[in-house]
Amino acid sequence: MLFTWIYMSRALRAYDVAELDVMCSQFAARNDKAGVTGVLMKVGDHFVQVLEGEESTLLALVAKLLKDERHGDFHTLHRGPISERRFAKWSMRMMHLDRSYTVKAPAIAELRKIVRTVLSSQAFSDPELQRGAVVRMLMAIPRVIALDGESNPGSVRSAALVNHVA
Ligand SMILES: Cc1cc2nc3c(=O)[nH]c(=O)nc-3n(C[C@H](O)[C@H](O)[C@H](O)COP(=O)(O)O)c2cc1C
Repeated sequence: MLFTWIYMSRALRAYDVAELDVMCSQFAARNDKAGVTGVLMKVGDHFVQVLEGEESTLLALVAKLLKDERHGDFHTLHRGPISERRFAKWSMRMMHLDRSYTVKAPAIAELRKIVRTVLSSQAFSDPELQRGAVVRMLMAIPRVIALDGESNPGSVRSAALVNHVA
């Protein structure tokens, strides 16, 4: 069954952009073989990752992620079945959402703000707020991807996504 798993975690040391891009291309190469797609976002010292793939594949990957010492404080934001992939084109897409990037485009600034809400302690004490922010985040990602001139992988599917997460 096709599945999605969305989590946040905290980087256990500082990474520069080039380092993260190298790491992410290694993840992408593995995901390509395993049929996993998604995006990996970095905001401050947090990661937020959207994974898509067969349920059994994602379970095995999450077991590895839980043991990976490059990050900690793993927290699942959402997981469940999906009818189709939202990020079918991305075996793993790295998105740097730190402030230096947000000046470039309002869409990035918007996504950064939403991800910050997802990460906030306020969202954790209010599951409704967290779920709403996760849905908004997923809907905002395709707009940021589209900034690169790539076709938008998710816009037509966002309604289905909202139904699914909500
Ligand atoms: C933030 C973060 C995101 C990761 N994303 C992926 C991923 O999308 N796909 C993947 O295969 N490994 C990913 N990894 C790496 C896995 O944790 C693990 O190191 C990798 O799958 C190799 O595991 P193995 O050497 O035990 O086979 C990620 C690691 C971190 C810290």
